[in-house]
Amino acid sequence: MTDIRITVNGEARSVSGDRPHERLLDWLRDEGLTGAKEGCAEGECGACAVLVAKDDGRGGTRWTAVNACLPPTLAFDGQEVVTSEGLGEPATPISEGRLHEVQREMAVRGGSQCGYCTPGFICSMAAEFYREDRTPVAGTATPANDGTASADAAADASAAGDCPVHDEHLEGANGFDLHSLSGNLCRCTGYRAIRDAAFALGEPEADDPFARRRALAAPAPVATRVRTTGGTRRQPHEAEFTRPATLAEALELYAANPDAQLVAGSTDAGVESNIRGTRPQRVIAIDRIDELRTLERGDDAIVIGAALTLSEAERALDGTVPLLAELFPLFASRLIRNAATLGGNLGTGSPIGDSAPVLLALGAELVLASAEGERTVPLAEYFTGYRQTVRVPGELIKAVRIPLPLATKTAFFKVAKRRFDDISSVAAGFAVDVVDGTVVSARIGLGGVAATPIRATATEQALVGREWSIETAARAAEALAAEGTPLDDMRASSAYRSAVLGQLLMKFWARAEGPTLTRTTEGAR
Ligand SMILES: Cc1cc2nc3c(=O)[nH]c(=O)nc-3n(C[C@H](O)[C@H](O)[C@H](O)COP(=O)(O)OP(=O)(O)OC[C@H]3O[C@@H](n4cnc5c(N)ncnc54)[C@H](O)[C@@H]3O)c2cc1C
Ligand code: FES
Ligand code: FES
Repeated sequence: MTDIRITVNGEARSVSGDRPHERLLDWLRDEGLTGAKEGCAEGECGACAVLVAKDDGRGGTRWTAVNACLPPTLAFDGQEVVTSEGLGEPATPISEGRLHEVQREMAVRGGSQCGYCTPGFICSMAAEFYREDRTPVAGTATPANDGTASADAAADASAAGDCPVHDEHLEGANGFDLHSLSGNLCRCTGYRAIRDAAFALGEPEADDPFARRRALAAPAPVATRVRTTGGTRRQPHEAEFTRPATLAEALELYAANPDAQLVAGSTDAGVESNIRGTRPQRVIAIDRIDELRTLERGDDAIVIGAALTLSEAERALDGTVPLLAELFPLFASRLIRNAATLGGNLGTGSPIGDSAPVLLALGAELVLASAEGERTVPLAEYFTGYRQTVRVPGELIKAVRIPLPLATKTAFFKVAKRRFDDISSVAAGFAVDVVDGTVVSARIGLGGVAATPIRATATEQALVGREWSIETAARAAEALAAEGTPLDDMRASSAYRSAVLGQLLMKFWARAEGPTLTRTTEGAR
C-alpha cells in the first residue's frame, strides 16, 4: 500500500487507507475540519465545497472549488486541499485572528444567517476571488478591500449598460461571475446579501499567500494503489483503489479486472455511492492520466480528452465550438463542472446526459481504447440500449472527436424545471448548413425522449434538400414532435415532451433567422 498523504490548509496529513470508499468530506470532518458540511450528499447544495490546487494548464495553480461529498478521499493522494478554516486566520488566546476578504464581506453584508451553507459559499467565492482572468469592468471603480465599499455602487456600475456582455445579474463590476456560486444553495439568508458580498470583493493583496501560490505548479498526479482486506463478516472491507500513472497501465489493469469501476470526476459515481450505497470492490481512477487530458485542434477535427473536466474543456475551447459553449453553462453547476468529464457523462450511457444531444449534432466520434488497441465509433452508433453501449469489457472512452468544419447554424436547448443546475426533461442539439437558401445538411441530437440519446433522422430528412424557410421549419417541427418514444415520469409527461420538441425546432429557426428579420423590420421603419 502506498503512503497516502493529503496537504490540507498547508499541513500534510496521512490517510489510513482502510476506508477505501470514504468520501473526502467525511475524512475532512473526522480530521476535525468541520467547516465543510453535508447538506445533501448529492452534489446539489454546495455546503461541502472546498478548494483544490489544480493545474491551470500554464504551469501554475488554479484554486478550484469542488464538492467534497462526492469524490473518494483516496483520489486526493498527493494533492492540496483548502477548507474554509484554511482561509483567514482563526482567533487564538493571543491573537484576534483575521477574516479572509471573502469571509469579511459575507459577514459585514449579512450574507450568513444559520451559517450552514456559509463555508461552502466561502470556498466557491474564494475560487472566483482568485480567478486570474477575473477582470473588473473597464471604467468602473473597484471597491476598496476594507469591507466599507458599497456593493450597491458595484452592482450599479455593472448595470451601467456600457458593455452588453456584463449583465448585472451575472457579473459584478469587479468581474465576479455569479455563476461561480450556482452550485451553492442557501435556505435562509436570501441571495441578495450574498451577491452584495461577491460584488464588493476587490483584488487579492500582493502578499496574499493564495494569490502568490497561483504562480507555482499544482501538485503533480500521484500513482496510488491501496488494497484493504478486513472488516467484519457482515461488512467485509475487501476493496482496491488504484490510480494508474499512465493510460497503458490503466488499460492493462482494466483488462485484468473488467468488472472494476472507472471513476473520473466521481460526480455520478459519488452519488451512486452515497445514495445507493454502491461499494465496488475495485476502483480505477482515471481523472489524472495525462493521455486522457489533452485537447488537440487539427485541420479536420478537435479532439477532447475524456478526462478533461468540463470547466477545463470550456476554458480551452474558449467558445470556438458554439454548441459546446451553449452546453457548458447549462450543465449542472460550476462546482460539478470543475470535476465532471465528458468521458463520465457518456460512460454512464444515460439517456438524459446533456452532452450526447450536443455531440450527436456535432457528428462526434468516440475514440475507445483497450489493452487490444484503439477504435473510433460514431457517437450515433455508441448507445445500444438503456444505459448500454458498444463498449466491450476493459474498454474506456479515451477522447471525443469533433469533425471540422462545424455547421453554421447551431443551437442547444435544455428544457428543465430550473434554468440552471437541473436535470433535463428534454434536450436538443441542432446543427444545420444552408447553401443558397437550401438546407444541405442537418444533424439533430435528442436526449430524454427514448431509452438512449438519439439522432432525429426523420426530422433531418424533412429538412435536407428543402428551402430554409418557416414553412419547412414548421413541417420539420411536426416530424420532430413525433420522434422518439418519450416516457411519462416525474420530470415531464410524454405529451409535454413531444409538444416541446416541435417548439424547439421553431425556436431554433427563429433564433437562426431572428436577427435577419429584425434588421428587415428596422429597415422598413
Ligand atoms: C448535482 C449534479 C448535477 C448534475 N447535472 C447534470 C447535468 O446538468 N447534465 C448532465 O448531463 N449530467 C449532470 N450530472 C451528472 C454528472 O455530473 C455527469 O454525468 C458527469 O459528466 C459525469 O462525469 P464524471 O467524470 O464525474 O463521471 P464519474 O462519476 O467519475 O463516472 C460516471 C460513470 O462513467 C464511467 N466513466 C467515467 N469515465 C469514463 C471513461 N473515460 N470511459 C468510460 N467510462 C467512464 C464510470 O465508470 C461511471 O460508471 C449531474 C450530477 C450531479 C451530482
Ligand atoms: S453535501 Fe450537498 S453538495 Fe455536497
Ligand atoms: S445561512 Fe442558513 S442556509 Fe444559508
